[in-house]
Amino acid sequence: MMYSRIVGTGSYLPERILSNHDLEGMVDTSHEWIFTRTGIIERHIADESELASDLALQASRRAIESAGIGADEIDLVIVATTTPDMLFPSTAALLQSKLGIKNNCPAFDVQAVCTGFIYALSTADCYLRSGKYRHALVVGTEVLSRIIDWTDRSTCVLFGDGAGAVILKPSVSPGILSCHLHADGSYNPILAAPGRVCNGQIQGSPFVSMNGNAVFKVAVNVLEQVAEEAMLANKMSPSDIDWLVPHQANIRIIEATAKKLSLNMDRVVVTVDRHGNTSAASIPLALDQAAREGRFREGETLLLEGVGGGITWGAVLLKW
Ligand code: ACO
Repeated sequence: MMYSRIVGTGSYLPERILSNHDLEGMVDTSHEWIFTRTGIIERHIADESELASDLALQASRRAIESAGIGADEIDLVIVATTTPDMLFPSTAALLQSKLGIKNNCPAFDVQAVCTGFIYALSTADCYLRSGKYRHALVVGTEVLSRIIDWTDRSTCVLFGDGAGAVILKPSVSPGILSCHLHADGSYNPILAAPGRVCNGQIQGSPFVSMNGNAVFKVAVNVLEQVAEEAMLANKMSPSDIDWLVPHQANIRIIEATAKKLSLNMDRVVVTVDRHGNTSAASIPLALDQAAREGRFREGETLLLEGVGGGITWGAVLLKW
């Protein structure tokens, strides 16, 4: 039996910090409203010149360094992003070039909004288990600030920019135990950035629109379901989970999931307070942060889970 295993992590956050207090000067809101509703205190915002592939490049370099490999040993690049540099080429292809990888390895993007990293990790896992590739670079990177209407208080207080990356290798010992992916496209009206390019013009709004209440309810339900599905598939119970590394959208959603798993919050990785919702970047950012703090011990069981536009949702259960 072949598994794939995370052997390196990295992340990157743009320098500029936008606090809740800064937002008070931009829209009719307050630190208190944002913090009590979401748990967010501040988020990072990319410079105008920084693209998703630039953030991904910094995170990838750190992941490559922590894995102790050379960039040319990477033979598969998968990038999860909702805010690609351009319509095409893919951000993964641009990243491959920026990293100086010259081996013509496949590079492609995955789009599942905030669940993107879970989808990308699952895709890489399939390729590595099949024995086809030796080192996969899997990245979640976002410049969400580009598709936010900064006059809309119902969305602009929630999101931030950043990137996280992992290096995945085949392994005879686990590793990723199982991946569980889902989507229900009929929910698209409650969370979307509906604009499209046509005849050189943007048709429809290019900004994130969200029915927060509806997304909140769906998110709590599907995250509970997929956590149960992942545990059942591995004959595990909540007491077998050492760490929950959830998508960082809202502390209340995270706490509700932890409660349903009977997990103490000190076993849950939380970065939403300092990063906001960085969509596809949020899980690998949280993973890297906790890994660098030395919180995970070898052999511990981690449950990664996410939910986002689509609606998409999913989980990865793994041994560290
Ligand atoms: N500051 C002050 N007041 C505000 C703000 C703000 N930034 N935004 C909304 N309000 C007001 C509303 O207008 C409303 O006022 P009213 O009662 O006079 O009409 C009131 O606050 C309450 O609004 P609600 O939307 O009911 O607030 P709620 O408690 O639901 O919190 C929130 C809103 C934080 C958005 C929550 O619903 C949420 O987190 N939803 C989930 C979002 C999510 O998880 N997204 C993940 C996926 S994102 C992706 O995939 C890209």
